[in-house]
Amino acid sequence: MEVERTFVMVKPDGVQRGLIGEVVSRLERKGLKIVAMKMLRIPKEMAETHYAEHREKPFFNALVSYITSGPVVAMVVEGKSAISVVRNLVGKTNPVEAEPGTIRGDLAMDIGRNVVHASDSPESAKREISIFFSDDEIVDYAKVDEDWVY
Ligand code: TYD
Ligand code: MG
Repeated sequence: MEVERTFVMVKPDGVQRGLIGEVVSRLERKGLKIVAMKMLRIPKEMAETHYAEHREKPFFNALVSYITSGPVVAMVVEGKSAISVVRNLVGKTNPVEAEPGTIRGDLAMDIGRNVVHASDSPESAKREISIFFSDDEIVDYAKVDEDWVY
């Protein structure tokens, strides 16, 4: 198993609903390591870049308007196989289908208000991390409990 970094974001609905701690807590309890974190209001152009793969989709404008509607909490999360581990914690895109036990399955009702974003591949993780964070904002550190996780 390879150590990976992935990009995770608490979306504006998650922030407004007071779910920042809940999301961060689930990541930490799993054994993942947060190596960067910040709150920001995403500018429209940055949102369009982040969601570039969806540019031609019918939901694109609504998605950009939603993601820029309020502050988000952006994170870089590290761990062995972190990209799939986090996608599994997050659950299916549509909260109606997301399994109980997942973030979207437990905390969301609507595909357009699904609380969190997480990268879906090593390529998107690299791309998304570089949109939100500069190299010097990502902290390389040892965590005392890591020997007990792996
Ligand atoms: P997508 O990358 O397919 O999902 P995920 O967030 O699980 O990687 O889509 C990005 C976001 O776009 C998704 O979180 C919610 C929104 N979306 C819609 O509003 N309607 C849709 O039909 C789809 C597929 C996504
Ligand atoms: Mg996606």
